[in-house]
Amino acid sequence: MKKVVVFGSTGLTGRQLIKILNEDPSFKDILLISRVKIDNLDKKFKIVITHDFSIKNLSKLLKGCDVVFSLIGTTQKKVNWDKKKYRDIDFQINYNIASASKKNLVRKLILVSSSGANLKSQNFYLKLKAEIESEISKLEIKNFVTLRPSLLLGRRKEFRFFEKIAQLFMPMISFILPDEYKPVSAFKVAKTMVYVSKLNQLGNIVISNKDILQV
Ligand SMILES: NC(=O)c1ccc[n+]([C@@H]2O[C@H](COP(=O)([O-])OP(=O)(O)OC[C@H]3O[C@@H](n4cnc5c(N)ncnc54)[C@H](OP(=O)(O)O)[C@@H]3O)[C@@H](O)[C@H]2O)c1
Repeated sequence: MKKVVVFGSTGLTGRQLIKILNEDPSFKDILLISRVKIDNLDKKFKIVITHDFSIKNLSKLLKGCDVVFSLIGTTQKKVNWDKKKYRDIDFQINYNIASASKKNLVRKLILVSSSGANLKSQNFYLKLKAEIESEISKLEIKNFVTLRPSLLLGRRKEFRFFEKIAQLFMPMISFILPDEYKPVSAFKVAKTMVYVSKLNQLGNIVISNKDILQV
């Protein structure tokens, strides 16, 4: 596998992705683009620390890159319930990553969206996720893969009250939930990302929560 780049490597799913990439010998050249330092990385990882997620800067950083993973996302609490700030991160940074990927003729962009993403949704988060998918798919990247997981399970560094409640409650009723809404481990999402990174596919592809559960 040629050079791969990861955005969002410090998050719940990002940390799982890093572990899997570390253990997989087919990945030898991995660049992490992050706002913060990450300790104890193997020598096959390089890290660029930046707060500049403009298309111009990202275009320079993605030179010679084959596959880009993006797991960037925020929460209402982190942006003080400011919808513009939320959009500047979830939409704009991911869009800039996609634009820079297109400029560099990246073979594959793999992005984590969300189950329920829908342009017609009344829910701000689900509508925004669908807008990200829709606008990036218009860029016609050689292969743009979107994963749509439901509630992510796993241990976070930070405490998120409502997510913790959902993580405790949803697995108990998982058997009555439709496959699209069953909770899924962040590890499975990361594993699916690595799996699809190795496939030779073209065009825009959406991977549902049901697909992720089967990996
Ligand atoms: N939580 C769920 O149940 C759930 C369900 C479905 C889909 N999703 C989506 O799946 C994706 C991954 O979720 P997750 O829970 O694994 O993520 P997470 O733990 O919240 O981590 C988010 C990542 O985004 C980065 N990030 C946040 N704001 C940034 C900014 N302004 N500039 C640059 N980087 C920034 C963070 O980096 P720093 O360390 O620099 O902050 C971190 O690496 C997200 O898009 C999320 O919306 C989540």
